[in-house]
Amino acid sequence: MKISAKTKTCLIIGDPVEHSLSPAMHNAGYLALGIDDQFVFLGAKVRVEDVGAAVQSMRKMGIHGLTCTIPHKVEVMKYLDEIDETARKIGAVNTVLNKNGKLIGFNTDWLGVVIPLEKITTLLDKKVLVLGAGGAARAVVFGLLKRGSKVSIFNRTKQKAIDLAKEFNCQEIDLNVESEISNFDIIINTTSVGMKPLENETPISTEFIHGRQIVFDTVYVPFETRFLKEAKKRGAKIINGIEMLLYQGTAQFEIYTGQKAPEEAMKRVLYEKN
Ligand code: ATR
Repeated sequence: MKISAKTKTCLIIGDPVEHSLSPAMHNAGYLALGIDDQFVFLGAKVRVEDVGAAVQSMRKMGIHGLTCTIPHKVEVMKYLDEIDETARKIGAVNTVLNKNGKLIGFNTDWLGVVIPLEKITTLLDKKVLVLGAGGAARAVVFGLLKRGSKVSIFNRTKQKAIDLAKEFNCQEIDLNVESEISNFDIIINTTSVGMKPLENETPISTEFIHGRQIVFDTVYVPFETRFLKEAKKRGAKIINGIEMLLYQGTAQFEIYTGQKAPEEAMKRVLYEKN
């Protein structure tokens, strides 16, 4: 055990938090770089009404990093000293760095989508269909537009898709003609459809998915959703939600440690847990 009183603490807060893979992923990264005496990553269950108190504790106790999951990503913003421009545009913070007593909020969720996609394709001018218009969709839409993709948003509640498209200056689509699905290069699910207990559902019909498309599901429980399984059968390249978790995590690791994240070690632990 290399942990001492000098070790810097990073914490993930959420409600629930017990299922989180972030501690395992970050601690594996510290170990791989031999900095597990300098950093440790833990989890704490914090109710949304206690987020302000948790941030106050971060100040008082000199906690180094605070990772926020649902439903804290928006709430936490009220209590910080500074919010970087990207997080402000996305409207959510998943990473808080304590920089010599100043609490700065960042958002790395958008990189969780952009990095895995850019490993297999370019995003400039690609036609992308985003399913969902909630918090996760905001980071996805932001990232894609930043890379020059042409984004269309489809959502069960149409008005939310219209509002999001207006805010980010992209398109809303109603998919009344399902064959339109075949016109997209990339399809990304940001809804909870496909996640337990909706694991037998798909967010849209997969009938028009084909082999020249990439299908990305941000859901990671189950590891391979029905949507991804069906897309794979139709020949599409697929990316699962663990990849998003990994790359929002590597970007976050770099903010907390100032060092390049050991991607393979962090990835291994996530895949071992699935
Ligand atoms: P998150 O922060 O994870 O994105 P959210 O802000 O609550 O969570 O958004 C959830 C998204 O999943 C929304 O787009 C929601 O659609 P509505 O705006 O119509 O509610 C979508 N969603 C959740 N359950 C769904 C379901 N059973 N069918 C279709 N869409 C669903």
